[in-house]
Amino acid sequence: MKNLTSLIAAALLAAACSQPAHIFEIAADKPGAEIQSTMYGVFFEDINFGADGGLYADMVKNRSFEFPNAFMGWETFGNVELRTGGPFPRNPHYVHLGYSGHSDKFSGLENEGFFGMGLKEGAKYDFSVYARGTGSLRVAFVDDDTMEERQMFAEDTLFVSDPAWKKYTLAIESPLTIQDAHLRLTLIGDGSLDIEHVSLFPQDSWNGLRADLVKALEDLKPGVFRFPGGCIVEGAELSTRYQWKNSVGPVENRPLNENRWHYTFDYKLFPDYFQSYGLGFYEYFLLCEHLGAEPLPVISCGLACQFQNWDKPEAHVPVKDLGPYIQDALDLVEFANGAVTTKWGKVRADMGHPEPFGMKYLAVGNEQWDYLYPERLVPFVEALREAYPDLKIIGTSGPDSEGKQFEYLWPEMRRIGVDLVDEHFYRPESWFLAEGTRYDDYPREGPKVFAGEYACHGKGKKWNHFEASLLEAAFMTDIERNADIVHMATYAPLFAHVKGWQWRPDLIWFDNLETVRSCSYYVQQLYSLNKGTNVLSLTMDGKPVAGLEGQDGLFASAVCDSGTGEVIVKIANTSAEAQTVRLEFSGVSLGAGKLFSLHSDDPDADNSLEEPCKVVPVESAVKASGSSLDAKVPAQTFQVYRIPVK
Ligand code: AHR
Repeated sequence: MKNLTSLIAAALLAAACSQPAHIFEIAADKPGAEIQSTMYGVFFEDINFGADGGLYADMVKNRSFEFPNAFMGWETFGNVELRTGGPFPRNPHYVHLGYSGHSDKFSGLENEGFFGMGLKEGAKYDFSVYARGTGSLRVAFVDDDTMEERQMFAEDTLFVSDPAWKKYTLAIESPLTIQDAHLRLTLIGDGSLDIEHVSLFPQDSWNGLRADLVKALEDLKPGVFRFPGGCIVEGAELSTRYQWKNSVGPVENRPLNENRWHYTFDYKLFPDYFQSYGLGFYEYFLLCEHLGAEPLPVISCGLACQFQNWDKPEAHVPVKDLGPYIQDALDLVEFANGAVTTKWGKVRADMGHPEPFGMKYLAVGNEQWDYLYPERLVPFVEALREAYPDLKIIGTSGPDSEGKQFEYLWPEMRRIGVDLVDEHFYRPESWFLAEGTRYDDYPREGPKVFAGEYACHGKGKKWNHFEASLLEAAFMTDIERNADIVHMATYAPLFAHVKGWQWRPDLIWFDNLETVRSCSYYVQQLYSLNKGTNVLSLTMDGKPVAGLEGQDGLFASAVCDSGTGEVIVKIANTSAEAQTVRLEFSGVSLGAGKLFSLHSDDPDADNSLEEPCKVVPVESAVKASGSSLDAKVPAQTFQVYRIPVK
């Protein structure tokens, strides 16, 4: 008898111990709000050498000799002169190479690339130059480091014999892998040559964009692609704002622009950071099409970067003079969508894309604030609505996730009647932990939300690390649960060169040869590849699982995928303890499925060029029993369960 009692007691204890700490109720038989195809997206800005020196694959810096110091990025030797009046009116400078006067001394110039030029053994590179005159031009790669005498390790020669400007090309193979080669052009013999627009692309590229970076974007399957910024849309001054019309047409004639990230907010200087516009609006639209992402251009609303010009009302264009800016917006829609018979539709067609790009969204202004913004936005909205009633217009709630400007701008955006409001939040850990129900109480009428720039900026740890990405994952459960109101979300910034960044954390890092995907990248990817089609209500004790009191640092959301017949549950355990949970799915029976887990024992860990796969999602099998699944969520872990409904 005594034995039986102790057996029963032991069994009860075992049952109590195996009882999960938390029970999640998931309404699997009641698909809710539709998840927009625009979830989840990317935001591209030319910051951190994201365009020139990054995604845009041309390796030659200052290829048209238009930097303020025309030989920035170049070293010259022998008889070399800068001249004006070349073949491209908006890039008038060119270079003349003459005989050095000594048979054993050459004339020429050498380009340093962007932190050098990355070459891969056996890979081929397309060199091109516009030239006129007579002479032999030796094209060579040199290794800056190896020799006192600069060592050439690959070379070929172009022969020019024409008084008229012509484009000359050759392909050159690299016999070795090197991060920081230079490109050396030498006039051989006693010729006389003019050269302009010197260019070098890897053959392994996608439409002139770096193949590995495009692949990283493809693997994200973004639903929307916001471009080209960011602050660069506004410019440090209006004259240096991004002007899309300068970014289309033949690349040789796209004028250079100063990059606003020329210097950072803390005045770190990057004196050689300019925009060649080689990656221009046409290329952005092509990339969006390739990725299957909705293009979302952002245009200047006539306000220069307000961070830099907060005390200078004269820095902005007066409302009465906004005409040309509004015309730029109207013309952009025509460029993207207009018939080939229209002025700007023809420009697009001449560039090789007669079919419209089907642009549906346009953001007017980036991170603007104060009354200065609404008074400028109104005439844009009026003109755009009249010309393009179906276009979805995006306004902004300013640079802060709450506070005075945010409180002022949201009602203004409702009054003006924009379709979506772009919210930005670069916030610390505590914010991400506290905002797990941010969108639950947003009004359901009026503009939808576009979480257009966000990232967890650790307090004292403003760089990529696992904990920050885990908190982003936790916060994103709220975005997902509120799919009826949050229609787009894009982490920021997207790219950063390890040798040229102005801002971090960033989603994807690269050097001249390799790419590395951060922990935050994998969070974005886990959401994007598992976004489902409809939200399912998921609660614990009738409440959203959003890190609330008594919820042990858990955050969760659920969706179903009507296409594949699966339920997908995302759980972030932000606590230092493992949590046992039971997922109870109403009205369905489930079978075997998959679990993707992102975890690191080290909250400071991140992927690096040396260790690119330190923190990556790990896939395993899970099996539900009928309509429930018992699971253990390890401490500091983001999990995605993907289970077919039987
Ligand atoms: O993403 C970096 C910058 O952050 C963007 O340019 C700007 O919109 C924001 O201030």
